Amino acid sequence: MKKKIKEDNPINLEEFLSIIEEFVNHKTVQEMKNYRQHYETTCFDHCYMVAYYCYFICKKYHLDYRAATRSAMLHDLFLYDWRIRQPDRKGFHAFTHSKVACDNASKLFELNQKEKDMILTHMWPVTMQFPTSIEGFILTFVDKYCAVSETFEVLKSRMFMKKAFRYAYVFLSLLIIRF
Ligand SMILES: [Fe+2]
Ligand SMILES: [Fe+2]
Repeated sequence: MKKKIKEDNPINLEEFLSIIEEFVNHKTVQEMKNYRQHYETTCFDHCYMVAYYCYFICKKYHLDYRAATRSAMLHDLFLYDWRIRQPDRKGFHAFTHSKVACDNASKLFELNQKEKDMILTHMWPVTMQFPTSIEGFILTFVDKYCAVSETFEVLKSRMFMKKAFRYAYVFLSLLIIRF
């Protein structure tokens, strides 16, 4: 029974880490920690989370989880702050960064065509290029899910802070009125 549960469980952290080991220890990939992607989440952490979910889903459904995990870890490998206008870059970041990431990743690592396509098309449907594999579609949806949850987490905590300040203000006002 225990063996069966282990076989059904798609999470094997050691395997996940071994798939992305080559990337996460690379100096250039480490540099992603210096750039924010969504609010407080760095590009590195965002890619790591997307890779983790892609690994989980693709392994569970017996898909090409290796390719999905590898391309997810590199899908936002652009090394600039996209909030600041880059004089050497033409076009909006949302439309161009998948090509930048794919070029950077291809220069640094040996990627197969499927992995390159997944990185290149991960911004669908914002960009017109359709993913060419089921794993590519999974990457696009997981990427959006992570982007929304990273944004939502910050907004939620900011709303909580606002509420806390409002209650503190009312409490202090009541104290001042009383004394
Ligand atoms: Fe992206
Ligand atoms: Fe992303």
